[in-house]
Amino acid sequence: MTAVEQRLAERAAFPAGFVWGTATAAYQIEGAAAEDGRGPSIWDTFCRVPGAVARGDSGDLACDHYHRWQEDVDLMTELGAGAYRFSVAWPRVLPEGGGRVNQRGLDFYRRLVDALREGDIEPFVTLYHWDLPQALEDRGGWRSRDTAERFADYAEVVYDALGDSVSHWITLNEPYCSSIVGYGEGRHAPGAREGHGALAAAHHLLLGHGLAVGRLRERARPGQRIGVTLNMSPTVPATSSAEDAAAARRMDLLVNRQFTEPLFGGTYPADMADTFGAISDLSFRREGDLDVIGAPLDFLGVNYYYRIHVEAAPYDEPDPALRTADDIGVRAVTPREARLSGLGWVVEPDGLHQTLVGLAGRYPDLPPVYVTENGYGDDGALEDTGRLDYLRDHIDATREAIHSGVDVRGYFCWSLIDNFEWARGYAARFGLVHVDYSTQVRTPKASYHWLRDFLAASG
Ligand code: NOJ
Repeated sequence: MTAVEQRLAERAAFPAGFVWGTATAAYQIEGAAAEDGRGPSIWDTFCRVPGAVARGDSGDLACDHYHRWQEDVDLMTELGAGAYRFSVAWPRVLPEGGGRVNQRGLDFYRRLVDALREGDIEPFVTLYHWDLPQALEDRGGWRSRDTAERFADYAEVVYDALGDSVSHWITLNEPYCSSIVGYGEGRHAPGAREGHGALAAAHHLLLGHGLAVGRLRERARPGQRIGVTLNMSPTVPATSSAEDAAAARRMDLLVNRQFTEPLFGGTYPADMADTFGAISDLSFRREGDLDVIGAPLDFLGVNYYYRIHVEAAPYDEPDPALRTADDIGVRAVTPREARLSGLGWVVEPDGLHQTLVGLAGRYPDLPPVYVTENGYGDDGALEDTGRLDYLRDHIDATREAIHSGVDVRGYFCWSLIDNFEWARGYAARFGLVHVDYSTQVRTPKASYHWLRDFLAASG
């Protein structure tokens, strides 16, 4: 078999209608932070805290996608991917978080969606990819139940503006990061370090998701699909000891089950009170919340990057003002001789297969799944063989999951272009396309060419 025939066969092994796409997020690419009436978000504030983001980088300019979106859409067209996942910036649409709608912000997304449709690229819209309006943070942010209500209002505004042209809606991106990393570890905006606050945030994000699903459902046109995106990382005990096994289970609760159980299992994880008992009383839960959170979904978005290898760690002294993974006695470790990404992340394509098969096995009513993110971070070389190998191996793992019976409908590579990698700033790059931040010149990398050929192989 020639190389081309081989690729053709591989591609043909995906079901008809399988969606291929790339993904980005508003704060990471748009720039134009103070333009056309956009209000400040928690990331604008966080980036100004000395030491919060590497080298003091911020998303003020980012990839200037707000002005260069047409060029970026052209890159997608040349790539041949049929879908694009992007996020809407809440503070562009509602600069104060609620109330007054900023039409100029909505107009930007209208231009983008129209251009995508013109290029036959299906938009997948994420409503919340971490950029909470600062005005809402000033009133408690995701610690507060009110933010969940405001999120549902915002979802409605965006749907009313774009609902005629967007069929796939994703409420949240990675609520684990928005809550635990943002309010617990403080590595992301708003930079809080609170046990109770982080767990309350996780709950209110889920509640906001459920409320938004309700509003979107009332409005949805036939064929429109509503889902949520979670980051999923299977946890693996570092050794065969009972302590490490228990630690891996606690980590699984923190990262995965805290979100999947209420969404797809109709319940809170049974070990939640035990594991988090010293941190929080879970008093933010109210009667009826589970029904809202568990509203049926049309799809689940899975972001997969790595498995987490876990060992038991000493518990921190109780200190309600400062809570991290140490508070539940877990520590992530890097196995010796592991294959690593350019950022030192463990590369284990099997983990994606394990994630997809595991979800389908655990939740009988699991909706169809899209891999909404998967990608490789490095320092930006154009000959990015590490990324190319990573993508090929994870696409293989996705195909195997389909063969194992999981209903996977699409795969989105993170990311189309290099962009603002949150607390790591611009030094960590995930793009298929290199961005020179001093000139904003875009240059496709080897992985882009590889993916383009792969997608073209089936014509
Ligand atoms: C997941 C997040 O959704 C995205 O914003 C981030 O850039 C990638 N992971 C890579 O870390």
